[in-house]
Amino acid sequence: MHLFGAVAFLFSVLAFTSSVQAVKVSGTHRSFGGVNHQSIQFLEPKERDKVITAAVDAGATVIRLFITGDDKHSDPETSLGVFDDSILDLYDDTLAAIHRISKGKTKVIIAPHDVHSLRGSNGSPCDAYCRLVGEAWLDFYSNLSIRQTYKERLTAIFNNYKSKNFNGASWSTLNQVVMGVDLQNEPWSGISPIPAGEPWICDIATHLKNEVGLGNHNIAVLTGGISGANSPGGTENAPESAFKCAAVDVIAIHGYYSSNDDATAGTPWANILLPGNTLTGRALGSKLLLVEEFSYVRARTGLHYKSADIWDQANALNYRGIPWLYSKVTSGDEGSSGNVNIFRGKGFAMEALADGLRRASKASSNFDWSRYLPQSRKPVKTTHVALNPYLPDQADCKLGCPGFLCDSMDACQQGYVCKNNVCEKCTKGCPGMQCDAYRNLCQEKTRCVDGICQECAVRADSASRRTTCELDEPSRYKSASTDETCGLDEPFTQPPICNYCDGSTKECRGSPCVRAVDCDADEFCDWGLCRPCTSGCLGMACKSSRDCKTGNCNAFDKCDYPSGVGKGPMRAEDYVGRRGPGYFGPRYQNQGPSKPRDNVARVVVPVDEVKQTGSTA
Ligand SMILES: *[C@@H]1O[C@H](CO)[C@@H](O)[C@H](O)[C@H]1NC(C)=O
Repeated sequence: MHLFGAVAFLFSVLAFTSSVQAVKVSGTHRSFGGVNHQSIQFLEPKERDKVITAAVDAGATVIRLFITGDDKHSDPETSLGVFDDSILDLYDDTLAAIHRISKGKTKVIIAPHDVHSLRGSNGSPCDAYCRLVGEAWLDFYSNLSIRQTYKERLTAIFNNYKSKNFNGASWSTLNQVVMGVDLQNEPWSGISPIPAGEPWICDIATHLKNEVGLGNHNIAVLTGGISGANSPGGTENAPESAFKCAAVDVIAIHGYYSSNDDATAGTPWANILLPGNTLTGRALGSKLLLVEEFSYVRARTGLHYKSADIWDQANALNYRGIPWLYSKVTSGDEGSSGNVNIFRGKGFAMEALADGLRRASKASSNFDWSRYLPQSRKPVKTTHVALNPYLPDQADCKLGCPGFLCDSMDACQQGYVCKNNVCEKCTKGCPGMQCDAYRNLCQEKTRCVDGICQECAVRADSASRRTTCELDEPSRYKSASTDETCGLDEPFTQPPICNYCDGSTKECRGSPCVRAVDCDADEFCDWGLCRPCTSGCLGMACKSSRDCKTGNCNAFDKCDYPSGVGKGPMRAEDYVGRRGPGYFGPRYQNQGPSKPRDNVARVVVPVDEVKQTGSTA
């Protein structure tokens, strides 16, 4: 076949390709999972090794450590510019133990400072920086002399300290065990947009990458969760200044979401990280995305949903191919918190977390992490969305419920459609809704009869047997023959016959649509029906709006859903339009009166942190 012929053939096949399978991550890269632990380094060596062994056995590929004090230990920087190497030795011993116990398979992300130590919040003791700034903790970011002192801290820890376990090497060279370093844990935590000192982000990232030299050793620079926990539809963790900074390798996202009547705890993740949306479309090829903290957040449904809620979040992230770290594991009591005791097994939250971790390391990703985390094995092709094995028996709804992950229309309960892998309320073309032959078409597997969409029976042929066997009321149909108990002949009452549609046979008609937003992220709206998209699709680079089959070229030159429509996917204006008066956008940076001042007046912001960001808060 000629090249031209082959291309034409390909197009003709694609034109009839199924649109039933919802958005798929087709990447050949592998995802991974891990855990946060805030104090491994301060445990007795025996206990420390037990915790590490449990994490490694559970399938954690990454463990995130925090350089900070606790009630019994000082921060290693005991006063500004003065370091206690014996405390850094404890971290070094921890790095060595993780490397040894995991046989080099588990790596570490280090948060070299915690906003909570800066504020004396969340149970962290006030450290040397906190004592310097007092209540005006935003000076940490905007005051240039304090920023210089912090850079010297990073140099002291990652260059000057000589590893006791790795032959005197600097940590900045230890890529066999250090995967990445955060700018800080949650800079500007709880505050968005960033009110002052935003250039701190790229200044510190560049220092880490170039001066400290992480960039020479394939150790990633991560943002650490800018502005703290991301709201369910928000973009707090992904400001322009981080995206535009060449030294930032990974946009780290923190989110604390609970389940509610319309959503699982994983639904916000499925929406935020939809392939091709403003965030992921922009990141692909320029930044990596990591969910660096997520947790169980107690909701109305109560603690017996803890395992299910943890698993739903892990499952959504695995399906989207975005790696994640649970926040956090401990060896203590869980109470009603999101903490997970790492030693507990079956029947406890740890079982669900470990299941999520195992699935994470098999999940495929569109993002290539191999530079920081070499992985020899190939991802396992995801076939179907897995059902949550940890839903409690008393759950009202267990299958295709609102907000559940889905991979086909069949996967959602009646009155709901599968849109971008989430079951959402059907607004057109579903049974009982008005229809016509032009603009108001019915959903697949419903038929327009007398102006009303009606459920229909699938034509009885061998390929459809599986589907028909799964119909809600098999008693309405009689067997075709004695050896086919689930076969179909003539229904007793004759519902309208549907065109047979099965994703694997590529015969599906497609869902009805008026605009691209009515279709899944990997489709476009073609004369009233959603069809697979191959050019000018969501997330692809656009030359002009007209080239985008999604109808909109966003501010970052990627094809996007039209502004103001569609929930979940991050839209361009979320990044720029919602900024308050204190925000100096990139356009104004370093110009005239809007030039950000680094010596802004001291801003006192309450230290209380809002952790719960789920909509049931
Ligand atoms: C920056 O902080 C230092 C130390 O607190 C202080 O001495 C200095 O005056 C501050 N600079 C500005 C411009 O506020």
